[in-house]
Amino acid sequence: MRSNINLKELIDPAKLPQHVAIIMDGNGRWAKKQGLSRIYGHQKGADAVRNVTEACAELSIPYLTLYAFSTENWNRPKEEIDALMNLLVETINKELPTLQKNNIKLNAIGNLRQLPEHAYQKLLQTIESTQYNTHLTLTIALSYSSHWEITEMVRSIAHKIKFGEILPENIDQKLIEQNLNTYPIPFPDLLIRTSGEHRISNFLLYQLAYTELYFTETLWPDYSKDDFYKAIIDYQKRERRFGKISEQIQSNQNEK
Ligand code: FPP
Repeated sequence: MRSNINLKELIDPAKLPQHVAIIMDGNGRWAKKQGLSRIYGHQKGADAVRNVTEACAELSIPYLTLYAFSTENWNRPKEEIDALMNLLVETINKELPTLQKNNIKLNAIGNLRQLPEHAYQKLLQTIESTQYNTHLTLTIALSYSSHWEITEMVRSIAHKIKFGEILPENIDQKLIEQNLNTYPIPFPDLLIRTSGEHRISNFLLYQLAYTELYFTETLWPDYSKDDFYKAIIDYQKRERRFGKISEQIQSNQNEK
């Protein structure tokens, strides 16, 4: 049953998360429930990508990061991988005018060189043609896993040491963060995972240290703008303490 409450109006524009990350899960189960192929589930999933991107742009949330394909997803049947890569290229082709019109910058993280050449080239072209857009940065994680990202970060710092650019004692949190694939995007304030699974699945493990987690039973292809607004409203009710005590947070707010 649909309620008549306008959820969007319940959102406090002064307390918006600056970065929302989403693990889009449940395409396969959604398709199975309808007696359709998994690939159809992914196609419907691409419509949900449009819903949340629009919702973020309308609310002026500056960063949205979507987990579209993990390092582990390469182990899926070849026809599903091919269909996902084709869907990526088709969606980018179809949505490019909308990205430009809405001032949205496309970005990607992950081991992109593993993508099929046509998908890699399309992605790069679109990233380049939207690079000066400023309203929303939409990051797609493709062939991404945190274990891969952290391994790359260690390798990159090791190279800098080998070539005398830094000393081991120069390694600090800032250097680590600068060598992550997500740099310079701020860490997510809110992580949403759909389909009732309560896992992080190798996604942004370093970056999620103080992120608020939100899980919903909704399968990704059914995910609507209202579902997204509900997650934001829930986030706005939480007190983020970052290791401090409640009274410290409240006195900081009173000082503002
Ligand atoms: C998880 O559902 C979803 C994926 C592995 C792919 C996500 C891809 C899209 C939403 C399509 C388009 C994306 C872009 C960025 C254009 P699952 O297949 O693991 O579902 P299951 O757990 O029910 O099997």
